[in-house]
Amino acid sequence: MNFHTRKWVKPEDLNPNGTLFGGSLLRWIDEEAAIYAICQLDNQRVVTKFMSEINFVSSARKGDIIELGMKATHFGRTSITLRAEVRNKITRKSILTVEKMVFVNLDENGEPAPHGRTQIRYADEAFARYRESSHPSAPAPDQNAATGENVLERVEADTMH
Ligand SMILES: CC(C)(COP(=O)(O)OP(=O)(O)OC[C@H]1O[C@@H](n2cnc3c(N)ncnc32)[C@H](O)[C@@H]1OP(=O)(O)O)[C@@H](O)C(=O)NCCC(=O)NCCS
Repeated sequence: MNFHTRKWVKPEDLNPNGTLFGGSLLRWIDEEAAIYAICQLDNQRVVTKFMSEINFVSSARKGDIIELGMKATHFGRTSITLRAEVRNKITRKSILTVEKMVFVNLDENGEPAPHGRTQIRYADEAFARYRESSHPSAPAPDQNAATGENVLERVEADTMH
């Protein structure tokens, strides 16, 4: 599972109990998952179809830094299923888990459309495809343009766009 997005828990994110408001967390998770699905399926038209039970494992407090993790667990014909976890960035203590989030790939008419994907797309693969199709002179994805240093980190393609 890749943990990309970090959030700093601020006063406006709290509930009256002084801990992170579940609604704020769910909004962040839904957006993070949608971005992940968009990048994996290479289509901006994806919608949330289903979320399984949400387990608020422990609370976060003002000032905590938390991180949001996603992993594709199943590629269907028109859907993609993700697992999500939020944890404290420093202590790694789990804050929330969602076992199943299903997103559906839509066509221009808003109808479910086959996405053709069967496995996780990695950022270097997505970049290589972009480079071949439109920017053949761009530096290789595993090279720092200035130093030539190999910087390849095999991360899932959810930080594109
Ligand atoms: C998304 C939507 C177009 C799908 O319509 P639908 O008639 O359910 O479509 P289908 O029956 O063809 O199912 C589409 C996919 O979703 C899956 N799916 C449908 N219902 C599901 C459920 N309850 N749980 C898990 N997966 C489900 C199907 O298995 C199928 O996946 P597959 O092709 O990979 O096998 C429609 O339900 C919709 O518009 N929902 C509202 C979405 C929305 O507004 N979300 C919130 C904002 S993003």
